[in-house]
Amino acid sequence: MITMGVNEIREAYLRFFESKDHLKMDSFPLVPKEDNSLLLINAGMAPLKPYFTGLKTPPSYRVTNCQKCIRTGDIENVGKTSRHGTFFEMLGNFSFGDYFKEDAIKWAWEFVTEVLKISKDRLYVTIYNEDDEAYEIWNKKTDVGASRIFRLGKEDNFWEIGQGPCGPSSEIHYDRVGIKVNSVEEFIKAQEEDKIIEFWNLVFTQFDKDENGVYHKLPNPNIDTGMGLERLATIMQGVNNIFEIDTVKNILEKISSISGVKYKNSEKSDISLRIIADHVKGITMLISDGVLPSNEGRGYVLRRLLRRAARHGRLIGIKDAFLTGIVDEVIKMYKGAYPELEDKKDYN
Ligand code: SER
Repeated sequence: MITMGVNEIREAYLRFFESKDHLKMDSFPLVPKEDNSLLLINAGMAPLKPYFTGLKTPPSYRVTNCQKCIRTGDIENVGKTSRHGTFFEMLGNFSFGDYFKEDAIKWAWEFVTEVLKISKDRLYVTIYNEDDEAYEIWNKKTDVGASRIFRLGKEDNFWEIGQGPCGPSSEIHYDRVGIKVNSVEEFIKAQEEDKIIEFWNLVFTQFDKDENGVYHKLPNPNIDTGMGLERLATIMQGVNNIFEIDTVKNILEKISSISGVKYKNSEKSDISLRIIADHVKGITMLISDGVLPSNEGRGYVLRRLLRRAARHGRLIGIKDAFLTGIVDEVIKMYKGAYPELEDKKDYN
């Protein structure tokens, strides 16, 4: 395996799928357009829903992008665990009625093993219980090996979020510690113990779920894959915490230099440092996408992030307004991928 920075991984991924004739699109803004079911974009495929359902014609039938996402459902866990964050980036390749399972699986395997060069003896895949087609492809068209393919139920390998396009999925997992598992029970246990982590979700989108929970078969099956960039970066950098990957570490260091509080000094101050780092990323991205603090909706999400970041700033002893200095560091780390950050710098 090679070591790669966050910005390098993002580039490598987009270039790989461009080489497979995908149109590279910019991230959509965090504020959804014409979608009342969502407050903020929370998955790479969310802004692409009209292309999946056939409501709109896509600019290309194969698309790749790195999408800015925010999820605040687990906000209380941020900073306390190694992998919770509110803002994250989702790498994705999408097919709108074009290629399906076979290419999606083969290309995912090629990217992981030949571009990222992740060792095959550290990889496992899971598929939906009933998905024999996915099993055959993994088994016959890649060299993952039958002993590394496990079948799981709907709660693990069927993807849906609210209403809209959904379907069975197949996930790629990384063994962080080098344990060899031989059965699905051992696999599940290793996952629970955080020894094996999922990092890429390939969704075979073939249904559209309506507001009453009814699944309608889509006229053409689609592909929607999502790989959390931060999580992948932990693998590629040999760390076990999204706050220790290169870009976020730089933001943490900036907060340390402003506050005089070093990271890894105490668990209590580390939690505050991590919360500030995560939230300022989200704040910067939301403001550059035009969100303003308010008492409801997405403005409330922003307000909550601002208040929590400010409170944790006070908890580690910062007396003055301090967020601007950190925002500058966030912009420095991410403006290559999201030029709007630099263009809208004055909003922050
Ligand atoms: N929709 C799937 C996810 O968000 C794959 O992109 O994980």
